[in-house]
Amino acid sequence: MEKIVISEGPEETMALAMDLARRLGEGEVVALVGELGTGKTTFVKGLARSFFIPEEILSPSFLLARTYRGQRILHHIDLYRVRTIEELEEVGLTALLPPEEGVTAVEWADRLPRAIPKNAVWVYFEHAGGDRRKITIRR
Ligand SMILES: Nc1ncnc2c1ncn2[C@@H]1O[C@H](COP(=O)(O)OP(=O)(O)OP(=O)(O)O)[C@@H](O)[C@H]1O
Ligand SMILES: [Mg+2]
Repeated sequence: MEKIVISEGPEETMALAMDLARRLGEGEVVALVGELGTGKTTFVKGLARSFFIPEEILSPSFLLARTYRGQRILHHIDLYRVRTIEELEEVGLTALLPPEEGVTAVEWADRLPRAIPKNAVWVYFEHAGGDRRKITIRR
């Protein structure tokens, strides 16, 4: 199934993520792909809002990953700086792909597609002028 949406601003991107979040089961992985500033982290903020996570979602770039707990658990991984699956294994992150508990969202998932489970939901972000983003959800 494929859904293509033009988002006119961050709130719309978050609303789209909340809509997806309601359909996600335990152990699912959301793979996010798109250039800098296209809205990947904004989308994760929408997932977090749907899970009633009280903390602010920050870019996990320096830590590689963070786990947030609300009504449900959200793991947030950023593969921007990761080159190999071995690196991911070393820091224990393959255990979150897929997670035993909660949902895992992965920014820059296309950097290491082999690390992403086969049944992941893929979300592609593209700049479409100004605040517009073309967002494609494939599952
Ligand atoms: N329609 C939109 N959807 C999402 N973000 C938008 C939109 N319009 C404007 N923005 C702005 O674009 C920026 C998107 O930043 P965000 O951190 O979500 O991108 P990212 O894809 O995670 O970038 P990075 O690759 O650096 O991690 C934010 O400042 C947000 O406010
Ligand atoms: Mg980001």
